[in-house]
Amino acid sequence: MKSSFNPPVRTLMGPGPSDVSPRVLSALARPTIGHLDPEFIHMMDEIKEMLQALFKTQSPLTLPVSAPGSAGMEACFVNLVEPGDKVIVCQNGVFGGRMKENVERFGGEAIMVMDDWGKPVDLDKVEKALAETDDVKALAFVHAETSTGVRSDAESLCALAQKYGCLTIVDTVTSLGGIDVDVDGWGIDAVYSGTQKCLSCPPGISPVAFSERAIEAVKNRKSAVPSWFLDKNLVMGYWSGGGKRAYHHTAPVNSLYALHESLVMLFEEGLENTWARHQQHHEALRAGLEAMGINFLVEEEYRLPQLNTVYVPEGVDEAEVRSRLLKDYSLEIGAGLGSLAGKVWRIGLMGSSCSRRNVMLCLAALENTLSALDAPINRGVAALAAEAVYNA
Ligand SMILES: Cc1ncc(COP(=O)(O)O)c(C=O)c1O
Repeated sequence: MKSSFNPPVRTLMGPGPSDVSPRVLSALARPTIGHLDPEFIHMMDEIKEMLQALFKTQSPLTLPVSAPGSAGMEACFVNLVEPGDKVIVCQNGVFGGRMKENVERFGGEAIMVMDDWGKPVDLDKVEKALAETDDVKALAFVHAETSTGVRSDAESLCALAQKYGCLTIVDTVTSLGGIDVDVDGWGIDAVYSGTQKCLSCPPGISPVAFSERAIEAVKNRKSAVPSWFLDKNLVMGYWSGGGKRAYHHTAPVNSLYALHESLVMLFEEGLENTWARHQQHHEALRAGLEAMGINFLVEEEYRLPQLNTVYVPEGVDEAEVRSRLLKDYSLEIGAGLGSLAGKVWRIGLMGSSCSRRNVMLCLAALENTLSALDAPINRGVAALAAEAVYNA
């Protein structure tokens, strides 16, 4: 006989999921109602309005896909990429590689623009690829690369795509809610995100938006969208505002209560205040880490405030540190991926996890743990350096 599962209470400062606030957790526990109940449909309309405001888009084709960020990614590629389509894919970390997989699985040709991990997408290389390739259907890139903590210049990349007349597919899984994402202002055609990063919601939902141009492209496809579940035309019958809703799938009712609550909280704080909070706590964390002698992977200009990737000090077993942080402080930070495995930590300051309390806990826990392992760090200075940022 199994007993109930009671997870430990953790502080989540990895690359996601981030801490979920008690308000959002209690929204999850509200009574389940029918997914076609008029009260539920009213809440769906509110979610849609709030997602439009968050993405900064007027697009009526804005909705939360009932599955995690990877499904939002797949929704964009499966609808827009047809066999033989050329898509320029920028890769500077793990998630650009997944975009390539998506293009190829749907029969497209992925033309890769590669940059080193930790560097932003190089605009000159992208322009060269666009200039040298005929009939490019879309330019695809990751705004905030979670594997490295780097921010690419989404606005300029979209401007390049418009100059060469192709669509844009943009991953904003880690950027949305932490830094500016301006879908209409930048002219993004297909965008997807996730709930478990800066929205501080449980994982499992992926907000997406499609521009009119993208929908035209879907309507003009020569072949049917090869996924029934993610076919935009069908899902919209369920998510279109007002009017009659056609049954498509049973929405994850309680998860959508949670998303609604997290969006309400975000707009209570205000979008710009949220970005400012992410920036402030990033600066304090950074001051503390640098005072300790720990360095950042990414150049200052391209750093994401919500994801801080730092080098592990010389001679330190990074996995041992993470496991002590978890055991002694119930604190989770992230490991490096791919070629950065063993060399870096990824410290998230996303959504509800982005607080003064967490910054100070993380600095103290890291300093104590590294000191116990005789790591070459400066002691007794990190907290003072972080507090100096808060008190400035
Ligand atoms: C940039 C990026 N894209 C896509 C994904 C996939 O999201 P999910 O794990 O929710 O499927 C992630 C997840 O970490 C991500 O960081």
